[in-house]
Amino acid sequence: MTQKQKAEARRTLETESSPVRAISITSGKGGVGKTNITANLAIALAQQGQEVLVWDADLGLANIDVLLGLNALYNINHLLNGEKTLEEIIIEGPKGIKIMPASSGVQEMANLGEGQKMRLLNELDHYRAKLDFLLIDTGAGISANVMYFNMAAQERIIVVTPEPTSITDAYALIKVMTTKYNAKKFRILVNLVENSREAKDVFTLLGAVADKYLGSISLDYLGFIPTDEYIPKSVLKQQPVLDLYPSAECSKYFKNLAKQLLNTPTGGGLDGNIKFLWKRLLKI
Ligand SMILES: Nc1ncnc2c1ncn2[C@@H]1O[C@H](COP(=O)(O)OP(=O)(O)OP(=O)(O)O)[C@@H](O)[C@H]1O
Ligand SMILES: [Mg+2]
Repeated sequence: MTQKQKAEARRTLETESSPVRAISITSGKGGVGKTNITANLAIALAQQGQEVLVWDADLGLANIDVLLGLNALYNINHLLNGEKTLEEIIIEGPKGIKIMPASSGVQEMANLGEGQKMRLLNELDHYRAKLDFLLIDTGAGISANVMYFNMAAQERIIVVTPEPTSITDAYALIKVMTTKYNAKKFRILVNLVENSREAKDVFTLLGAVADKYLGSISLDYLGFIPTDEYIPKSVLKQQPVLDLYPSAECSKYFKNLAKQLLNTPTGGGLDGNIKFLWKRLLKI
């Protein structure tokens, strides 16, 4: 990016700020429920009148469109190489949520060329006025790409289950983000539990280890989603559980999760403005 382009981009970011909340949904271990949580949280937020864009940032196996039974014709690659605009690649899901599909062939965000960064910045900037929330469904683990999105987001929701490996992997993820990237705030959502007591035990255990070895970081308990047979049922039917089985036990929890996020504006400690996302993503 030239100095002039950088100055222009900075000016745009500084003058037109809109209060979009960029939240990553992430985990140390795979298969803990991130994609289901992202999709249903997006729908619950939409039901509360919010405009939501879901960014499928899992470069391994892109699957939020499959989960929702949607057919993505294009993906972010088409935007990056200039073939399509953001509007053209975005698909619409239930309750009007928007989805930016990923592709397993897409290159790592950290390695984008200057032209690609500019294109993405312009497209996102154009679109942001329409948004209240940007939910980023990341891959699992501590790869550069996962870190990239987690650090770009203002708020990070770490999904953890009672499985010991899920807890140790969540700790590993928090440790890398804290020690290498200086992130201090994390929100913890416990999935696949029987009840609130089990969820709090998981949170307490994770908190105790983090406290002991990582010192002054802030882990914020965001609640839990119970194990519910209607989730796998809805996955088989390729429809979000909240839409298909609105009175299922877990649906109540997804709605509460959305309410809780709406009631607690910025868990990330930043100014609640999406310009941070663009700036960090594009390093301008
Ligand atoms: N609360 C729940 N109750 C019952 N089953 C669940 C629950 N949450 C997730 N599952 C099941 O767990 C499986 C994994 O969920 P999902 O694909 O959302 O995980 P993920 O973290 O996105 O995985 P990956 O790391 O591969 O992207 C799904 O088959 C889903 O049906
Ligand atoms: Mg997933």
